[in-house]
Amino acid sequence: MSEQTLQAIVKAMVADGKGLLAADESNGNIKKKFDKLGIEDSAENHRRYREMLFTTPGMEKYISGVILFDETIHQSTSDGVSFAQYLDSKGVVPGIKVDIGLMDFEGHPGEQVTKWDETLNDRLKKYYELGARFAKWRAVINIGAGIPSDECIAANCKNLVKYAQLCQANGIVPIVEPEVLSDGDHTIERCYEVTKKTLIELFAQLKKANVDLSGLILKPNMVIYSLEGEKVSAQEVAEKTLQCFSEVVPTEVGGIVFLSGGQSEPESCVTLNAISKLVKEQKTPWKLTFSYGRALQNSALKNWIGKDENKFSSQEIFLHRAKLASAASFGEYTPEME
Ligand code: G3H
Repeated sequence: MSEQTLQAIVKAMVADGKGLLAADESNGNIKKKFDKLGIEDSAENHRRYREMLFTTPGMEKYISGVILFDETIHQSTSDGVSFAQYLDSKGVVPGIKVDIGLMDFEGHPGEQVTKWDETLNDRLKKYYELGARFAKWRAVINIGAGIPSDECIAANCKNLVKYAQLCQANGIVPIVEPEVLSDGDHTIERCYEVTKKTLIELFAQLKKANVDLSGLILKPNMVIYSLEGEKVSAQEVAEKTLQCFSEVVPTEVGGIVFLSGGQSEPESCVTLNAISKLVKEQKTPWKLTFSYGRALQNSALKNWIGKDENKFSSQEIFLHRAKLASAASFGEYTPEME
């Protein structure tokens, strides 16, 4: 794995028509998914599942990078090639989720903060040696009665900034992910307000800490309706999302990659497509694309259910989802392509 500038890594990650596969489910999270489908939860089955995804022929046409979990970056293909090396050989940038999860935010019921980890700097050095060239840290902001508090937003941003500094010092591109959750029944206007407030705080702290914004990727939620709230059109999602970003995201930011956040697979293409069309009209300063977990994997996993005989059909399903997300990143997706 070669040494590259942060900007060169960013450029490869947000190359035209490509996006990221978030395959960084923690062991607890993947267990829940496997349990639901009756797949035995074991390190070997995690490995087989990830191997099925990563060895999909042609996925590199649509996928620029893969976010791995700690267990996964230490695993290999059946031929004994480490996953990071294998992805790199296909021209796909290996990345790593480095946050160690959430904890309750003391004194603030209903709010959470991402745990800080004193060993992060050492871990980043090891991940770099293993081939990771970007990392991901996720903070979660809940919307509810009286929340989020300013203190919760500030505390989460503080950790995101410390993480971003350490990544850049180690030659790793930080993906900063302040996810405003779509759980609940709040309106899209409320999502807009909270997302904007969170991003203002994040970029104020990043600037103060002299983080190089051109060597960083933002992974935000779309400004979108909540899971139990009233739905609005994809056009409105696109307008509010880009309005919010144009007001608060500095132009130097290397790239913006969206999480799918509970949208269905087709829905995540419809909304990204509307955003991409508007991006073309408005000529935004940053590249925008996808970094989806569930919206790229759900159907493929349901089809795979741990069986070798389903490997090729599951790869076809995954490739199809990646192709449609790629089309959406160009604003060229249509529901007929489903
Ligand atoms: O942290 C979130 C993941 O990287 C993306 O997950 O697309 O399923 O929301 P999602």
